Formats: sequence, C-alpha cells, structure tokens
Amino acid sequence: MDKNYYITTPIYYVNDKPHIGHAYTSIACDVLARFKRLDGYNVKFLTGTDEHGQKVEKAAKSQNKSPLEYANFISKDFKSLTKTLNLSNDDFIRTTEKRHILAAQSLWSKLYENKHIYLDKYSGWYALRDEAFYSEKEIINGKAPSGADVSWVEEESYFFDLSKWQDKLLEFYDKNPNFILPKSRMNEVKSFVKGGLRDLSVSRTSFEWGVKVPNNDKHIMYVWLDALTNYLSAIGYPDTLENEYVNFWPADIHMVGKDILRFHAVYWPAFLMAAELPLPKRIFAHGWWTNEGKKISKSEGNVIDPLEIISSYGLDQIRYFLLREVPFGSDGDFSKTALLARINGDLSNDLGNLCQRVISMIYKNCNGFIPKKCEKLNDRDIIFHNKYNSLYENVKNEIDKQSFHEAIKLIWAFIADANKYIDEQAPWKLRKTDDRRMNDVLWILADAIRKIAIIVQPFMPDSSTKILDQLSIDISERNFSYLDSKHAIKTNKINSPSPIFPRIEE
Ligand code: MSP
Repeated sequence: MDKNYYITTPIYYVNDKPHIGHAYTSIACDVLARFKRLDGYNVKFLTGTDEHGQKVEKAAKSQNKSPLEYANFISKDFKSLTKTLNLSNDDFIRTTEKRHILAAQSLWSKLYENKHIYLDKYSGWYALRDEAFYSEKEIINGKAPSGADVSWVEEESYFFDLSKWQDKLLEFYDKNPNFILPKSRMNEVKSFVKGGLRDLSVSRTSFEWGVKVPNNDKHIMYVWLDALTNYLSAIGYPDTLENEYVNFWPADIHMVGKDILRFHAVYWPAFLMAAELPLPKRIFAHGWWTNEGKKISKSEGNVIDPLEIISSYGLDQIRYFLLREVPFGSDGDFSKTALLARINGDLSNDLGNLCQRVISMIYKNCNGFIPKKCEKLNDRDIIFHNKYNSLYENVKNEIDKQSFHEAIKLIWAFIADANKYIDEQAPWKLRKTDDRRMNDVLWILADAIRKIAIIVQPFMPDSSTKILDQLSIDISERNFSYLDSKHAIKTNKINSPSPIFPRIEE
C-alpha cells in the first residue's frame, strides 16, 4: 500500500497581512496532515507564499519598497502564522527562491518544447485582484465575475494552447469522479470546461516582477503558471528521479478556496498533461467565511485577524470552531455567539468536564493510579466499550472525504455517550458502596478518554496532549494503532488534573 501522502495549501499572496481565510485553509490541511501521520503515513505538508505578479508589485510600490523587500517582509508574517497556528508543515516555499524559479522555468521549457506555448498578442480584460484574464462575455456590469475591477490589456504575450485540452480534461473528470470535491464543484468545473476553453495568456510584458521566460527575458511568466508550479518545486522538480518527487508526486490533495478552483482544476491539470506529468489525485474547494453575516473585506473594515482571535479564545478552540461549525466545502459565518457556544458547550461541558470528572475521581480515589483492567464487564459496559472499536474506522472514512465536521460529530457522539455512561453508573456513589465496581467503571471511562484524546489530536494538538499527559500515556503509544481492541489503558500513575477548556464568559 502507498503510505506516502502529499498535501498542499495554496501559496498565499504577499500583498497583504494574513487573515482568517488563510488560517482556515492551513488549519484544515494541518488536521489532515496530522491525521495521516498518526495513521502511519509518511507525510509531506507544504505551504508557502506567492510573491510575484502585478498585485504584489503594486502593493510594494505603495509602501515605497522594492517588490522583494516587501515580499520578504510579508512572507515573514505568513511564516510566523504557521507557528501561531501550530501547523505541522514540513516545508515552506517562497516563489522567489532559486529552487522554485528553476522549476517554473523548467516546466515552461517543457511546455514550449512540447509545442503547447506560442507567441501572439493578447487583448482583453485583466483583473488585478484575481490575477486573472476574463473574456468579454464574462464581464458583468464592467466587473469580473468575482466583483473585481478589470482593466483592458493589450500586449505581446505567449499563449498556452488550453483550448486543445477540453476533451482530455472532461475525460479525466469522468474517469476520476472524486478528483474535485465537493461534488457540486465538480459539476461547476465541468460545465465551465464544456462551455469552451480559450487559449490562455501565460506571459506579461508590461511589468517586471516575475519569473523570466526562458530565452525571451522581455516576458515574465503569468503569475498563476509560476505559482502553481510551487507544488512541484518543493519536491525537487525538474529532477523527477529525486526521492521527494518519487515519493510524493502526484500530490494526494491540493486544498484550495472555492475562488481559486478554476486555476487548480482546469489550468493546472492541463499544464501537467501538456508537460506529460501525472495529475494530482484531488482538488478540494472549501467555502468562504463571512463575519457576523457580512462579507469580509478591507473596505468594510471587518477583516478577522487570526492572531487576535487566537489570543482572545485560544488556538485549539479556534481550530475546533472553524472545522466544526461549518460543513467543510460550504460557506460559513463567523459569529461570537456561535464561537462561545462551541467553546462552552462542546469543549468545556462535554469534553472538558468528562476528563475532569474521570481523572480527578481516579486521582482521589484510586491512589492516583489508573485501575486495573476489569475482568468482568456487564452488558451495559460491553455495549459502551465495544462502540469504541468503530470510532477509528468511522472517523477515518469521514477524514478521507475531508468531511471534518462529520468526523468531529462522530467523536462528539462518543463523548456524549461517555457522559451518559458516567451519569448512569455514578461512580461517586459507588465509592461509598462498591469499590470494585467503581474501579471497573473508572477503568472503562479512562480508556474511553484515552481513545478520544488520541483521535482528537489532529484537531486540537495541544489540548489532547494535555489530556494524554494527565493520563500518563506514553508518547510512543499515541498513534492510531493504539486505538484497536488489542490495546487498553495501563495502570499508569497519573497526575493531578487541571481543567483543559476553561469556560469563557462574555
Ligand atoms: N496566491 C493565490 C493562490 C496560489 S496557489 C498556487 C491566492 N492567494 S490568496 O492569498 O489570495 O488566497 C489564499 C486562500 O485564502 C484561498 O484559498 C482563498 O480561498 C482563501 N480565502 C480568502 N478569503 C477567504 C474567506 N473569507 N474565507 C475562507 N477562505 C478565504 O489566491
């Protein structure tokens, strides 16, 4: 079985500071990367910054900086965000790095040699915000379909023969029905491609901030052709015999926002086919967040700063909220009420209290040792205990579809079940009447919490570590192979528990 897994975030434009949208994509990828590692995969998780193009050049000018100075400056913010979000990325690529420029120029040369690039003249609309070309029929009331301003561009340009790839793309989508998820997005892409593809302008001459086109340095590469190549540059392309390339290409998943699906699901596969390279296995397009019901935009002044909300509410709390609140793939609304309900309800009441109750009862009443595995489970115990055997498989199935919210729902159904069990069995009463039964009940619950904490690790790495530490679970026994029925909690000496998810009153 192929146990390598390559996952990428989009690379972020350095024209502005990081915001919640960037954090969202990155956190989702991090959960997937951590999940796969715990599941025994050799993972490469890539993120980085997209530093060329007119948009970045313009932003730099407005700050009286050279584009590179400016890119260095903002790229640092994105790099430091990876730490703030506790991302487990294995690499951080910048498109101004040598390894990337080499890869982008090599891919260009390959397309050129294969006769898929030709020189002509472009005249048409260009939207700076999207860094995208639009045809006359796409323009709505003088704007791009995304609402971005457009300007008329006329310049000598190289073209990629995208129109020739229409049938091959459609054939590929049909053969690979899960290539684009969610399914509704696949239909959108298909109908866009069926509507006809025009050759794509892939170079510019009217500004300078980009990767030079090989053998014609009047031209710089179109920023999207440059940017998409990052997924290859980070694994050693053009050296296709290099270990990283051999292990990790084709990528298992490119995670993107819905606004940049077309570039990933139409242009990128066409470039790759034209360069005779294998196609990624999946493109997942997630939805967009609004803020208290309003579209997020700088002009509205309602941009959500990830650093701010993390310092107010806690990192794991935000990671949990973003992935639980909204079905992954749909749009969602960021509201304080909803956030507090999740923190105080799901985290404090459900998971936090369960851990606190069980661990402190064990600490106080079992001399600080996890009780011995009970020898005789009653029928109720068996029903409860056995349910946990399906936890891993069920959660894994949802994660493999990127249904993070469903995966979390499943885990929380187990947590609810454990809370129900503890209320029914009332070990605090057994303490006075039946010590042995109390020990059995607490053993079952401690083992349930161990399993919950193990499977929650990808979502909330810090908090789950605290729980596993409180239960003194050995570091080497925290991966998913310890979720099977052969493994159970040992008679560890435990530490005095402290609350993991304090309630937040506002
Ligand atoms: N540089 C390109 C990507 C090149 S990938 C080869 C780019 N960068 S970006 O910085 O503008 O956007 C990065 C991601 O942030 C996109 O996936 C986009 O969907 C996401 N988001 C931006 N605003 C968002 C929300 N309000 N909500 C959720 N995600 C959003 O595009």
